[in-house]
Amino acid sequence: MYVLGLTTLGDSAASLLKDGEIVAAVEEERFSRVKHHSGFPYHSIQFCLDQAGITLKDVEHVGHYWKPWILRHKAMQAARSAFISRDMFRARADRGVAQVSNSYLGMFRHPQRLREHFGASNFKFHYVEHHQSHAASAFFVSPFDSAAILTWDGTGEDTTTLFCRGGGNKIEVLKRIKLPHSLGQFYSAVTNYIGFDMFNGDEWKVMGLAAYGKPKYYDFFRDRVLTVNGSGDFKFNIQVLDHHLAKHYQFPDAILKELGPARGEGEELAEHHWNVACSAQKALEDTGIYLVKKLKEMTGEENLCMAGGVAFNSVMNGRIFHETPFKNFYVQPAAGDAGCSIGAALMVWHQKLGNPRRFEMRHAYWGPGFTNDECRAALADADLKFENLDDEILLPKLAKMIADGVIIGWFNGRMEFGPRALGARSFLADPRRSDIREILNHKVKLREWFRPLAPSLMEEYGEEVFGVEHHDPFMITVIQVADEYKAKIPAVVHVDGTARPQMVSRDTNPRYWRLIDEFRKLTGIPMLLNTSFNVQEPIVCTPADAINTFRNANFDALVLENNLVVREGNSGC
Ligand SMILES: [Fe+2]
Repeated sequence: MYVLGLTTLGDSAASLLKDGEIVAAVEEERFSRVKHHSGFPYHSIQFCLDQAGITLKDVEHVGHYWKPWILRHKAMQAARSAFISRDMFRARADRGVAQVSNSYLGMFRHPQRLREHFGASNFKFHYVEHHQSHAASAFFVSPFDSAAILTWDGTGEDTTTLFCRGGGNKIEVLKRIKLPHSLGQFYSAVTNYIGFDMFNGDEWKVMGLAAYGKPKYYDFFRDRVLTVNGSGDFKFNIQVLDHHLAKHYQFPDAILKELGPARGEGEELAEHHWNVACSAQKALEDTGIYLVKKLKEMTGEENLCMAGGVAFNSVMNGRIFHETPFKNFYVQPAAGDAGCSIGAALMVWHQKLGNPRRFEMRHAYWGPGFTNDECRAALADADLKFENLDDEILLPKLAKMIADGVIIGWFNGRMEFGPRALGARSFLADPRRSDIREILNHKVKLREWFRPLAPSLMEEYGEEVFGVEHHDPFMITVIQVADEYKAKIPAVVHVDGTARPQMVSRDTNPRYWRLIDEFRKLTGIPMLLNTSFNVQEPIVCTPADAINTFRNANFDALVLENNLVVREGNSGC
């Protein structure tokens, strides 16, 4: 039986289950080439059907990640924000509420839209609550029979934080926190205060910048903005920092008085902004740890699953993994709204249809893949000279090139689902080189100097590199690097001595594991620097996307499966 899952606004995506196992999952942005594509995921659905070799007729159920009839709460929140700063807000609020209404009401047409575009079909369409989709996206594909589940994001229909317990094929809701009390909206508002763009997903930048600052405003955030009480709730005080106003770079007097004016366009990032980022990050972490400990008290479970945009805060995750009483953790690679497409489908399969669990998501490679023939055809089309080499020759050669300073665009197998490149569509470089971060951020990826770069390491070496047992296949936690390793791998160690590793398994990505092993044999270092294969656009999807990026960006070699292209004039090999 096939169940299709859909996310249709913001990070749109589609996923397909066959008898409860994932067959395909992909974000619409990879096809449209528009970051965080918002809208009905036509291309993603087509890919899922093609990957399974079926048509919509074969799909019996469709799970949708949102219940559009719980709309009034969003409108109420907009009205509440309007009350804080009436003059500033009125015109925008009217327009905003109208837009929200249109986009959410449009979800009622999705069943019809599917049939119009993909042909007649008798599927049953299920609207699943947003946070329950998040919860399902983590727990049902986790290795745990039972677990506590925490989902947190900007907002769902009206819920921003959900506490659940998962057991077998059922998820039980224990407690919910609703708007306006939202950790995601708090962090997004800070993102815009520092002059970044929450709509571009710039929350990553705040987290990266936080490592450079001091928690000078921590008490202010904890006392006035993000407060907790003993009962396991938190409050986000929108009189002081309001997400709806922050969307338009407007801020209440209360925060301006305390922190000074928000960073304007083109204004340089100064120590003050680092300190604001650091203080907000620490306030988020401590609130998060408080909630996780409460969830432990509520459930007594040993295992914790997390999802929702806030679960991408890898610095907080590192602390949760090591400072809370839970023994085991699971966060899947598409923890944000794209992953809700899997969650909505799984809710239908397990909770509604009552099917038992038998699937664990151990890797992220659910997107499109391309054969060597397809790669060669794309290279021939582009008139690029290439060598076709077997892995026995290619992988040692690439390891040597990387050790000699070459940056490689690595295109290998099926594309990752979720925002992290995990060795299928990655730029690879030498983690030992202290200048490589500057080169990658400035010359290749054309982005801010402070963005950290991460290592992919053979999972067998986790304890040696970090000094503690730590397993993370999805780059979802930040952790301190062991002192003796810090100086050896400066390109992937952040200013505060941490790294955000991907542990690479020989089982789930043998080719990538072998490449890293070749690098280890040459250098003694069991890891490569890995950052996503893209320049100011979504991660590359097809061979043509990769070739396009190679043409327009400043890196030395491109590997499309077994085909190697070296930029002319490069002496690194
Ligand atoms: Fe969400």
